Amino acid sequence: MKTIRTLAATTAICAAGAAHAVDLEVTHWWTSGGEAAAVAQFAKAFNEKTEHNWVDGAIAGGGGTARPIMISRILGGDPMDATQLNHGRQAEELIEAGLMLDLTDVAEAEGWKDIVNPSSLLDSCTVDGRIYCAPVNIHSWQWIWLSHKAYEDAGVDVPSNWDEFVASAPALEEAGKIPLAMGQQPWQSSGAFGVMAIAIAGQDAWSAVNIDKNADVAGGPEYAKVFEAAANARAFAAKSNVQDWNQATNLVITGQAGAQIMGDWAQGEFQVAGQVAGEDYTCLPGLGVNEIISTGGDAFYFPKQDDPEVEAAQKELAALLLSPEVQVDFNLAKGSLPIRGDVDLAAANDCMKKGLEILASGAILPDGNQTLSPDTSGQIEDLMVEFWNDPSYSAADAQARYAEIIADAD
Ligand code: BGC
Repeated sequence: MKTIRTLAATTAICAAGAAHAVDLEVTHWWTSGGEAAAVAQFAKAFNEKTEHNWVDGAIAGGGGTARPIMISRILGGDPMDATQLNHGRQAEELIEAGLMLDLTDVAEAEGWKDIVNPSSLLDSCTVDGRIYCAPVNIHSWQWIWLSHKAYEDAGVDVPSNWDEFVASAPALEEAGKIPLAMGQQPWQSSGAFGVMAIAIAGQDAWSAVNIDKNADVAGGPEYAKVFEAAANARAFAAKSNVQDWNQATNLVITGQAGAQIMGDWAQGEFQVAGQVAGEDYTCLPGLGVNEIISTGGDAFYFPKQDDPEVEAAQKELAALLLSPEVQVDFNLAKGSLPIRGDVDLAAANDCMKKGLEILASGAILPDGNQTLSPDTSGQIEDLMVEFWNDPSYSAADAQARYAEIIADAD
């Protein structure tokens, strides 16, 4: 029988060495339909395969809202037992402050070094040779999602690349459609800008800016084209008056909008709506310009609890999240790729299969969360919000500000 944590921890009749059921509070920002279906797979596995309880701590409003809450709880001495964060640098300071559980023994026992692919995901969990997170998926930002209904209603073919998308926008507008769906959460326009940068400025320029922090390239001619494209995209998104990313995906699902540039978590929404890739919607990697995926995504971190029983349960969850069956069930629902290649994904849809093919080809890039500090990412998001919300903010002025941010980036 499962007991609540306080009981398990304090009861005097616990036999020494016996494992006890623990209530584990797990925070995450997976609240859209597709996300909720995916996280339910984790909860189910944890509840069924261990004697512990998953206590769901969903935080609405997306990562931009959830992360500060998560981090302040950990810093403020009220830590949850496990939390989602993005692969990358978001937990750097928490780890350095000694607040996060070291999972190196779990990683060694489970052979994570041999399993996790790409290895950059485990590198993102590693500080001074110790492993502090359990990577659970690969999410790529590099996709545009196109509504077949919207293009059919407008009497034009579904675009197969960015230029065709731009050329078809007037026909969509005439048919009363929004060419580009874009929500108001700051990370959405910032993420879409990153996708445009890779497709339009090319991978070398993107790497120079995002990895080497080269402000000359950020202020130079290749990036000028990206800012012009973004100004165009801003006009295409002018009538997209939704807030959350999944509301924007819904505009595409219902054919009110032609397209959305969004990470492959959008797939979960198409799936929940019963839509079929290739029939109801098209997904183009790299805006149909270059087939590439970025390999960011989600990892679970486990704040220290100073309670051996909780720690044991935390480690059980960490191991379970990477186990083959859980990887398949979760990632099929989430629209992400598994972090291990030795699992059967025969049930994957066409978009996921395309992602797997690109991953196997090695055409991968790190995610912005891995290359830029949370502070730099925040400054870029602020700039993008201003730029996307103000049609009089010129591409040239925005680029100049962007180059300044990159010059100071860490
Ligand atoms: C996460 C995804 C999530 C998306 C939207 C991203 O940061 O990696 O798992 O679905 O945010 O909430």
